[in-house]
Amino acid sequence: MIRSTAHSALRTLLPADFYRDRQMYDQCLDTLFAPSWQFLAGPEIPSTPGHAHPVTLLPGSLNEPMLLSVDADGREHVLSNVCTHRGNLLVSTPGRCRQLVCGYHGRAFAPDGTCLRQPGLDRVKGFPGREDDLRRPASGHWAGLRFVRLAGDASFEEWMAPIAERTAHLPWDTLEPLPEHCTTYPVKAHWALYTDNFLEGLHIPFIHPALREALDMSVYPIHLFPRGSLQMGLAKENEPAFDLPPGHPDAGSRVYAWYFWLFPNLMLNVYPWGLSVNVVEPTGPDSTRVRYLTYRFRGQQGGPQSHALAATEEEDDRVVEQVQRGTRSRLYHPGHLVPEWESAVVHFHQMVLRHLPPRA
Ligand code: FES
Ligand SMILES: [Fe+2]
Repeated sequence: MIRSTAHSALRTLLPADFYRDRQMYDQCLDTLFAPSWQFLAGPEIPSTPGHAHPVTLLPGSLNEPMLLSVDADGREHVLSNVCTHRGNLLVSTPGRCRQLVCGYHGRAFAPDGTCLRQPGLDRVKGFPGREDDLRRPASGHWAGLRFVRLAGDASFEEWMAPIAERTAHLPWDTLEPLPEHCTTYPVKAHWALYTDNFLEGLHIPFIHPALREALDMSVYPIHLFPRGSLQMGLAKENEPAFDLPPGHPDAGSRVYAWYFWLFPNLMLNVYPWGLSVNVVEPTGPDSTRVRYLTYRFRGQQGGPQSHALAATEEEDDRVVEQVQRGTRSRLYHPGHLVPEWESAVVHFHQMVLRHLPPRA
């Protein structure tokens, strides 16, 4: 683990035009998003034997047609939803799938993606071969959340390790969706501006009155990891906090929430009652869709205080939209950052820059 350094000068590393440049935005889709782990679905899509569920990965940017298919034995398969004959989309609505049969020319696949047959090809030598199977991109699974990686070789376990290790004592196999607390916001801002905002708590006392009442802002620990970061919100006296087991790295602290960020666009906010997920989906150089998904541990009586959580999300969205307008100013140049509060922003920028080709 890399710890944040305090008291050294910090500056934002991404230039102002990064947040408005179409070419850099497109490069990010190819060099950051396609080779990184992406959220595909949560427990709201049940893993029902014999069923298949189409999901578009990052609609409006990657637009990748994916399929969650569960075989009769209950094994789930993350597949491309593109037929290997001539590219038709295979499954358009969720439903039963003893076999997946393409509606264009009848190519048939098993629920694990193995190509079985196609009318007219039964006498062709070598058909079906492995290249006729549906593509199976790398996939990962944690706490009922499913993830996929379209390219590259980044390890799922390493990516997920910071949260999996620190929260191993929590009952992750009991997460249940809270549909009334799930929502999607369009934000008129670049996806990285939304991320910048998430990665610092400096703004909390200024724009989040409810959170300011709950958190002890005299301390705000930040931990940096090779592929993510963690900010810890500590609870004021009368606020709920985690009951941590002996030997836990945060034992002795009254942790109100762990705010994890995993590169490049996933935020996992862990509370004593459950998990709130922010999936940051780019839709253009100045537009983003943020999906807020909320899950509670089975049997937990507490839960998100809906008004406070929704208000906080809206406060963030509105300020990020203002910053988007500010970064378009011809007179704007990024300034000094506050070392003890904004080190995770700089860490994020360093990761982005490592994935972009050097500028001429
Ligand atoms: S595209 Fe699917 S069978 Fe032809
Ligand atoms: Fe915020």
